Amino acid sequence: MSWRNLFKPSVKYSLFTLVAVGIAIGVVGYFVSQQVLHATSTDEFCMTCHSNHSLKDEVLASSHGNNRAGIVVECQQCHIAQEPFNYLVKKIIVSKDIWGYLTIDGFNTQEWLDANRKEQADLALVYLRKIDSSTCRNCHNHVYEDQPEAMKTMARRMHERNFAKDPADRKTCVDCHKGVAHPYPKG
Ligand code: HEC
Ligand code: HEC
Ligand code: HEC
Ligand code: HEC
Repeated sequence: MSWRNLFKPSVKYSLFTLVAVGIAIGVVGYFVSQQVLHATSTDEFCMTCHSNHSLKDEVLASSHGNNRAGIVVECQQCHIAQEPFNYLVKKIIVSKDIWGYLTIDGFNTQEWLDANRKEQADLALVYLRKIDSSTCRNCHNHVYEDQPEAMKTMARRMHERNFAKDPADRKTCVDCHKGVAHPYPKG
């Protein structure tokens, strides 16, 4: 077969059929990947590997699972950047956890979490700093610009002072707010 044949419509199938099949494959592929991304964003998915960890109970006991508004914040709403590109990048990084899951001795036990909490918490914070706490800001938007009357004076003063700084010198939410969903280890 010469290279020219690659560009010639197949004899057996019309060009129209080939294009139609191509579009169908593309559409199916798009929906499958959307479904996979969606399925891998639920709390249930996260808890398949973390099933023996107290993480979900901690969220339910915190202000992010037990509040007047009755909102239970999902794992991914805090942990995975929502912007499409960052979202994909984080997903690809999380997929490395499959390897960790298979190779880290005793990973899915509460003892492992207790023993490694500080290190894991700091890894989570590195990521949140990298995205400038964008996940927090998705819900707590304009926290600096519109300080509600009800907000404590102390909080208002800290937020105003931080916001007045040059953007490059500003602290990010998680620099001041640790342990908003899980107990942040001391020391
Ligand atoms: C395939 C199993 C698996 C799944 C599914 C999984 N994790 Fe993990 N997770 C791990 C492993 C293993 C580690 C420890 C990684 C290490 O230290 O190398 C970890 C660590 C973490 C950490 C702390 C370390 C870091 O890099 O931030 C966070 C936060 C985390 N997972 C959140 C989640 C969330 C949120 C989900 C659901 C979107 C999730 N995990 C789904 C296996 C998994
Ligand atoms: C899905 C929305 C959502 C996300 C994402 C979210 N929060 Fe919240 N946050 C809430 C709700 C709802 C409350 C409870 C408000 C109430 O009790 O009136 C709350 C309460 C708080 C409070 C006050 C109570 C406390 O625990 O001190 C702080 C501080 C806070 N969030 C910081 C954060 C930070 C930091 C992040 C990112 C790591 C974050 N939030 C992510 C919705 C969210
Ligand atoms: C320079 C430190 C600092 C930074 C940065 C900061 N906060 Fe705060 N924030 C505070 C302090 C201090 C309080 C009051 C302490 C408390 O009540 O827990 C507070 C209180 C809050 C509260 C509770 C307010 C209430 O109703 O009483 C929320 C929600 C909150 N911060 C969200 C955020 C978010 C979102 C960000 C990032 C955009 C952020 N904060 C950045 C220091 C900070
Ligand atoms: C309100 C935001 C928020 C929610 C909801 C949330 N996390 Fe976290 N998570 C954090 C932050 C912030 C840290 C970094 C350490 C800290 O400040 O406590 C963290 C740390 C972690 C760690 C590292 C170990 C530790 O305890 O610090 C793991 C693992 C983790 N989260 C998994 C989960 C899983 C699984 C869910 C859902 C059941 C979840 N998180 C829900 C904000 C959240």
